Order: sequence, then C-alpha cells, then structure tokens
Amino acid sequence: TVVYLNGERVDYENARISVEDRGFQFGDGIYEVVRVYGGRFFYLDRHLARMKKGADEIYLDMDFGLDNLEKVCRQALKESGFKDASVYIQVTRGAYPRQHTFPPESSCTWVVIVREAKAQPREFYENGVMGITVPDERWNRCNIKTVQLLANSIAKEKAKKAGAYEAIFHRGGCVTEASSSNVFIVRNKKLLTHPANNFILHGITRGVVLEIARDNKIDYSEEVFSLQDLFEAEEVFVSGTMTEVMPIVKIDGKIIGDGVPGEITRSIMKAYDALTK
Ligand code: PDD
Repeated sequence: TVVYLNGERVDYENARISVEDRGFQFGDGIYEVVRVYGGRFFYLDRHLARMKKGADEIYLDMDFGLDNLEKVCRQALKESGFKDASVYIQVTRGAYPRQHTFPPESSCTWVVIVREAKAQPREFYENGVMGITVPDERWNRCNIKTVQLLANSIAKEKAKKAGAYEAIFHRGGCVTEASSSNVFIVRNKKLLTHPANNFILHGITRGVVLEIARDNKIDYSEEVFSLQDLFEAEEVFVSGTMTEVMPIVKIDGKIIGDGVPGEITRSIMKAYDALTK
C-alpha cells in the first residue's frame, strides 16, 4: 500500500492527520475511488472532474491543484508496482480549532492511497447476488461524493447481516441508488436508471453503462422507477467502480426475473469487461 499525504510519500504507519481535521470532526471532505486495470487508470479524468465539481458545490478550494493531484496519483501507482489497484483519494478542508464556520485560513488535507485490488468472486457475476431494500435516509445532496457515509455504511451493514451484497435505497417508494453503487432495472426490454440529479451519485460506471447501451442499441431511459418496478423487473443490476456491473437476482427474498443474470445485463457486463482489458 502506497500512501501520499499532502503530496508527500509517507509510510503507512506514519500517515497521520490532525485531531482537528475537518474531515474527522465534520465529515467536511470529499473522496473518489478509482480503479486501475493492467497498470492503467480507468477514467481517472472523469473522477477528477467529478471531484472538482463536488469541491465547488461545498465551497472547497483544492489549493494544491488538480493537476498536482493527478501527478501524485500516477506517481503513487508507479511506485506501487500494482497492475490491478484501487486508488482512494480524499480531500478535506484541513485542520483548524473546531468551529462550524469555515476556517479563515487553512490548507486542504489530501490523501492518495493505492492498494492492490482483487477481483470479486467470479460466481458473483456468473450467478448474480442478493440485495435488500432500505429507506434512503441520506441528505438531499447525494450527487456530492462526501465522506459522510454513515447512512450508506448502516445500509451496507444491514445487507451484510441479511447475507446480501447490496442495500438498495428508496425515497418515498422511488428507487434512487444503492449504498455504494447505482441501480439499473430492465422493464419491457428497456434499461432504466434514476436520473442524474441531487438524489444520486452520478456514478462514473453508470455513465459508462449508459454509453454501452447507446453504442449497442439497447433502449434506455434515465427516469424514476418505483419499488414495485424493481421487484417486477425482468433484470436488475448495480454498477460501481469496485462493483463493476453486478447482477442482482434476489431482493428482500423475492426472485427477480428468472433468478439468473438476464440477457441485457450479460451483454453489458461483457462490453464493460472488454473496456477494462
Ligand atoms: N462508491 N452510488 C454511491 C452512493 C457510491 O458510493 C458509489 C461509488 C456509486 C458508484 O459510483 P462510481 O461508478 O463512480 O464508482 C454510486 C465508491 C466506489 C465507494 O464508496 O467505495
């Protein structure tokens, strides 16, 4: 594991931040997780662009420079020697004696952690996995990838306790996304996913899936669908940087479609897989 703290390489054990860091005290920070396949970043540019947008939304000035961040990501990957890796990036508003208002002066705390990534078990993709549904109890600005992940964490823990892979959020009966992935269904042979508004993270993988659908003439629409649509769907899958494209075949104990990964899901998985090669 290679760690860069504020632009400097540090030993994992000596990578320390202040007790007054605003990320620690207020969840005042944003993050990204980027995947590396065969030594190459998968859409690093899109992750960095999303991070910049999120920073602007929370009035966070990334004072170290986005180009510098990109350089450090590439340098850290090179030093790691990993071919398949996950790169965790976190930026906070820095450390300052605790007060709710922003510090009048402080510099960002920024971290890059490169870890070797293991692919998830093949049978997950081949057979599909289980999901549960939970009420979406998060705030209304889910498009910002903040480190405030308590609701996501609780949801995922519930899924784990239920022996499921993912927790799917619904807001007043409308499916938004999942605890760490976006949700797609197939209804009447048409691919549906929640519109990219403030109720979901605009997943990079989600965008890639929609591009695959467009290029392969798969009918799709970004529209709100209900919990009932979810249960009655022909196919369901989730998408995410580490999740990739993962079929869901059972939700809350109810079988989805034929109980196996569907045709459209499999064609998208195949096309996605090809992009990572
Ligand atoms: N999670 N929705 C949520 C709430 C997420 O946390 C994520 C990613 C996604 C998928 O986004 P992307 O395709 O850009 O990875 C959707 C990351 C991987 C995580 O928290 O580990």
